[in-house]
This record gives sequence, structure tokens and C-alpha cells, in this order.
Amino acid sequence: MYKIFLLLFLTITFAISNSIITPLPMNPKYNYKKALLGKKLFFDTRLSHDNTISCASCHLLKEGGDDNIPVSIGIAGKKGTRNAPTVLNARYNKLQFWDGNAKTLEEQVKGPIHNQIEMASNFKEIISKLKKDEKYHKEFTDLYSNGITSFSITNAISEFEKALTTPDSKFDNYLRGDKTALNTNELNGYQLFKDYGCISCHNGINIGGNLLQKIGTIEEYDTSDFGLYNITKNNEDKFYFKASSLRNVELTAPYFHDGSIETLEAAVNIMIKHQVGFLIDEKERADIIKFLKTLTGKTPEFLRENK
Ligand code: HEC
Ligand code: HEC
Repeated sequence: MYKIFLLLFLTITFAISNSIITPLPMNPKYNYKKALLGKKLFFDTRLSHDNTISCASCHLLKEGGDDNIPVSIGIAGKKGTRNAPTVLNARYNKLQFWDGNAKTLEEQVKGPIHNQIEMASNFKEIISKLKKDEKYHKEFTDLYSNGITSFSITNAISEFEKALTTPDSKFDNYLRGDKTALNTNELNGYQLFKDYGCISCHNGINIGGNLLQKIGTIEEYDTSDFGLYNITKNNEDKFYFKASSLRNVELTAPYFHDGSIETLEAAVNIMIKHQVGFLIDEKERADIIKFLKTLTGKTPEFLRENK
């Protein structure tokens, strides 16, 4: 019997702690020198097989950290099937990729490097190219005892990504105690976000990014991508996608895993219809959108300093 209570207690504690939204730390921890090296790598096209594509080709750092097109275009103009999510605040996602196929930033980096549509390369090829560059060679050996390796490459890129946070949104200021940071409409939007249960899927420090859910929990949603099922082949996992972080969502159109939805208004309408199922009037919908726009932060300080 006590086991049932313990389980109940743990479930409730988990649900409560998860539904709390906490502000982003003002001074996120990362290794400064490694982040500088990682920034160079992030912009380096030698990470792709034909030296044409860098991480920054699909993650435009000053435009929301995504590429503003429905599905990304990789090597030799090849089109992918999914929308590029933002790399801003990705360090706070518990799951990376739309289907959560990587847990950490380090693990994530291997994806685009090997993906035949994105960079179509591999570490052996990249290491041999980078080793020919004496400046890189020195920078790597100064920071990593084994020099240029798959570990040091992924580690440096991840340290750079850890610097890409936007802690100064209006909503973060509100959460830190500035009760005047949100106006009446925005506050009402936040209340509705909680009341209508958006927060049950988009929660935690990144206001999303920590769980997979079915798109179409209330009403079936039409998409040809099976999401998590593509990995597990488990029927129950069909149409499960990451409830994305809503931070900077104002800047990351188009929306959803396939980038098929052009505006934030349309994305919220779909959420209301397919995930929530309440009838929400025009004024309430507008306030929810006003609230979502308070999640927009400034360009990360690391980039502002233009290092
Ligand atoms: C050709 C375009 C392209 C390139 C190049 C690319 N990405 Fe991405 N990135 C994407 C797409 C598309 C996704 C989503 C893929 C999925 O979920 O199936 C993604 C996902 C991510 C994510 C996960 C974010 C989240 O919220 O799930 C991170 C982090 C990321 N990329 C970083 C990088 C890094 C670092 C590089 C360079 C090593 C890189 N990307 C290269 C298009 C690209
Ligand atoms: C049952 C879980 C669930 C609920 C409740 C929910 N969402 Fe979502 N949300 C998701 C999932 C899963 C996705 C990703 C869907 C996809 O790409 O196919 C998503 C995506 C989004 C997106 C698009 C993000 C992007 O970058 O493409 C927005 C905006 C959004 N949700 C807002 C809301 C709002 C506002 C509410 C409340 C009215 C809400 N959501 C309720 C699970 C949920």
C-alpha cells in the first residue's frame, strides 16, 4: 500500500515541479575560451562534406536561431523534411530534436554532421581538414590535451551553444519579481496559458522542450511525419513530437515540425483546436499571443559583444 502512496506522491511532486516556469539564469555557466572556439566551428563550412554548409547556414543567430523557412536546405540544395528549431536556449531543453532523439547538446551535434541531407560528413573527414589549419591546431591543443578529436569538436560547439541564452525577456523580468514587466493583456494571456492547460505541455525553465506529446491529443491532426514512431516503431508513439520551447517563438516562424504553419496566430489556433479543445474567444486568443510575445529576449550577450 505504501508503495502506491509513494508513487502518487512522486507523480504529484513531479507534475508540480515541472509545471513551474522558472526564469533563465542571468549569467549562464560556460567555458569562455571553448565557447569562442565553438563559435568558429559553428560558422565553419568545413564541417560539411563539400565545404558549403555550416551550422550557421540553418541557425541564423541574429534572427531567432532558426532559418525562417519551412524545411531546411542542406548540402547541394537538398531539402530536409523538418523545420529547424532555434539553438537559442537549447541548453535548457531536456530533449533535442523534434522527436527527442538526442538528450544532450554534445549528442545532438553528431546528427547534422552525419545527416546526408544536411552536412553529409563524418568526424574522420572533418578532423583531417581541421588538422591542416595550423591556427585551429594550436587553439585546440591549448584547450584540449588530445587536440582535435570528435570529443573536442562537439564539446567546443556545445560550450558556444551554452552561451546562447536570452535571459532578459519581459516574462523573465516578471518571474524575477518585477510585477510591472507585463501589462494587463499579457498578464491575462499568462493566466489563460495556465487555465487552458498550455502549461501542462509547455513548462519548466524553457517553457517547453522537456516532453514529447501527441500532436492531436483532442482532435486528430493531419501530418505525414510519424514523429517518435519513426525511431521506436511502437504504434503508441505515432505523432509524438517535442512540445517545443516557446521562448522567442515570435521570431521562429514558420511553426511545427514541418514548418507548415506560417503565423503564430495560426499555430495557437491549431493548439487550441487539437491540443486543448476549449472554445476560446478572439480576445482571449489575442491575449495568449501577447503573452507569448513577452518570451522574446534580446540577442545573447555573447553575440552582442561580437566576439
Ligand atoms: C541543413 C540545415 C542544418 C544544419 C547544417 C544544422 N542544423 Fe541544426 N537542425 C536543423 C533541423 C532541421 C533540426 C531539427 C531536426 C529534427 O528534429 O529532426 C535541427 C536541430 C538542431 C538542434 C536541436 C534543437 C531542438 O530544439 O530540438 C540543435 C541544438 C542544432 N540543430 C544545432 C546544430 C549544430 C550545432 C549544427 C552544426 C554542427 C547544426 N545544427 C547544423 C537544421 C540544420
Ligand atoms: C498536450 C500537449 C500540448 C498542449 C496542451 C499544448 N501544446 Fe503547444 N505544442 C505541443 C506539441 C507536441 C507541439 C509540437 C507539434 C508539432 O510540431 O507537430 C507544440 C507546438 C506549439 C507551438 C509551435 C512551436 C514551434 O516552434 O513550432 C506553439 C506556438 C504552441 N505549441 C503553443 C501552445 C499554446 C498557446 C497552447 C495552449 C492554448 C498549447 N501550445 C498547448 C503540445 C502541446
